[in-house]
Amino acid sequence: MTSNTPSAKAWSGRFSEPVTDLVKRFTASVDFDRRMASQDIRGSLAHARMLARQGIIGNQDLADIERGMTQIRDEIERGVFAWSLDDEDVHLNIEKRLTALVGDAGKRLHTGRSRNDQVATDIRLWLRDAIDQIMHLIGDFQRNLLDVADEHAATPMPGFTHLQVAQPVTFGHHLMAYFEMTRRDAERFADARRRVNRLPLGAAALAGTSFPIDRHFVAQELGFEAVCENSLDAVSDRDFAIEFCAASALLMTHLSRLSEELILWMSPRVGFIDLADRFCTGSSIMPQKKNPDVPELVRGKTGRVNGSLVALLTLMKGQPLAYNKDNQEDKEPLFDTADTVIDTLRIFADLMTGIRVKVDAMANALRQGYATATDLADYLVKKGLPFRDAHEAVALAVRGAESRGCDLPDLSLTDLGAIMAPVEGAAERLGEDVFQVLTVAGSLASRDHIGGTAPNQVRQAINRARASLLPTQ
Ligand code: ARG
Repeated sequence: MTSNTPSAKAWSGRFSEPVTDLVKRFTASVDFDRRMASQDIRGSLAHARMLARQGIIGNQDLADIERGMTQIRDEIERGVFAWSLDDEDVHLNIEKRLTALVGDAGKRLHTGRSRNDQVATDIRLWLRDAIDQIMHLIGDFQRNLLDVADEHAATPMPGFTHLQVAQPVTFGHHLMAYFEMTRRDAERFADARRRVNRLPLGAAALAGTSFPIDRHFVAQELGFEAVCENSLDAVSDRDFAIEFCAASALLMTHLSRLSEELILWMSPRVGFIDLADRFCTGSSIMPQKKNPDVPELVRGKTGRVNGSLVALLTLMKGQPLAYNKDNQEDKEPLFDTADTVIDTLRIFADLMTGIRVKVDAMANALRQGYATATDLADYLVKKGLPFRDAHEAVALAVRGAESRGCDLPDLSLTDLGAIMAPVEGAAERLGEDVFQVLTVAGSLASRDHIGGTAPNQVRQAINRARASLLPTQ
């Protein structure tokens, strides 16, 4: 095959035989990297404008390139662009079409550039857009979460440790824990974006170029905050993609925990919530079933996002400087991660509006499990009993209530005193006022400090959270 045959590779001049079909398929990336076509065109146009400004190509060349790219963009958008495996990747497919459309100007586009800095630029442009979309969707999710939290700022539910009833909290307070988690996730994406947003173009293959390029102009054209300052690093490292996957893995981990809770809460054994039918599916064999498939899938998809993070870390760890073809394997995990996170956030934003809270079931659950035992101990401590003694006295009270089959506030003052008698100084510290702290409302209201579950604190937390969210566009 000579370089004049129509399917000749851009680099085939040096070779005496073509690659086998299997090698062609094995080394090609066009099937997946064509997703970056619009970024590739944007990058090429910025590069071409710089080349013309610097007098490296003529103004007519630039005009031809711009005209050709307009047509190519249109062909891609209309789905009529003829992608070909023969041209390996998105870059060569577009360049070849450009040359077919505008001739020599198309062949001049690659002056002072390599696919190595080109692809690194395309991924960064693509990822920057994906991050912006994700940040926006986190905001949508958070807004809807805040609405549910607000409605249930004072709705009591058991708080758990070890999945055992621990202390009363409000459902709003519980949900606000997820606001905090996703707030940190948004911070991580914003921080990763700063390092994504740097321009590799100009690094060329690995060492820079002998042409008098203006990298800052290209950076400005493409909205990059800065240029990558070392050419070897610019074409070879994918740490920015790894950071993105790490931030995504953490976000998915948080949404997976929430999913696990929704599944648990929806189990008829717990029955704290019901999920709108649009997020559930039935069973083909058991007619009574309503399964929380959406949260289950989110929990499951967290595995593939974690997998992508490990894939990219592993991809990078053995690579000597500078570019190696290994890096072509960065795209599928990256795309899959962004797709998964975007779909999950979209669906979870909507899911927040489909939660029906069963307030009575939560209240009933609080009546089992002695959720106010700590409040009773704190009460005794405030009356002067050392905490360890108070702990012991309340443990006896719980055992006493358990054997009588009742809750702590159901015990009379006399019973309570008698049960605590073995602990010196406990019984005499009890008064009628003890029943205030034993109620759920009293317990909740007493945790009245920033970060606590008192309903007025939960409302303040929600207000602060709302104020911190960007307005919707
Ligand atoms: N398709 C390649 C990639 O995704 C583009 C860069 C190829 N460069 C090279 N010298 N083979 O990484």
